[in-house]
Amino acid sequence: MSVKTVQDLFVNELRDIYHAEKQLLRALPKMAKSSTHPELKQAFESHLEETRGQVERLEQVFDQLDLSKRAKPCQAMEGLIEEAKEHMGEIEDKSVLDVGIIISAQKVEHYEIAAYGTVAAYAGILGFTDDQNTLHAILDEEKNTDRTLTDLAEKLVNKDAVRAA
Ligand SMILES: [Fe+2]
Repeated sequence: MSVKTVQDLFVNELRDIYHAEKQLLRALPKMAKSSTHPELKQAFESHLEETRGQVERLEQVFDQLDLSKRAKPCQAMEGLIEEAKEHMGEIEDKSVLDVGIIISAQKVEHYEIAAYGTVAAYAGILGFTDDQNTLHAILDEEKNTDRTLTDLAEKLVNKDAVRAA
């Protein structure tokens, strides 16, 4: 699709984050499985549930705007997930691996925060108020997940990894 207008950009970005979320649906179970701290496992499992809901709400946005639910390959998310897989494949110490998985997961969340922040803003500019609200709600979920990961790292996971060294 050639991008000529802000609306084209908006649609492009929606398709990008839609693809990103779908990739994440496949990656999160592996991240949960590779985590050792039960709190971290739980955080990934609940974010997996949340992500399923986000994909559904993105599909509602496509429907509402009369757009086909087509994903545009998101190379950024592919790269971030690839890095996460590298961590999962090469870090042997379980407590250090939890730190590595949090690093990867927070990079993913920050990508999503940037993506939803911009699509929510575009939706506002274009006058799609309902969609703006939907996208803002998802943005808040991503921010919460990021905060949960920071809390887990600071209060638990980082300390355990340093102690284990
Ligand atoms: Fe998400």
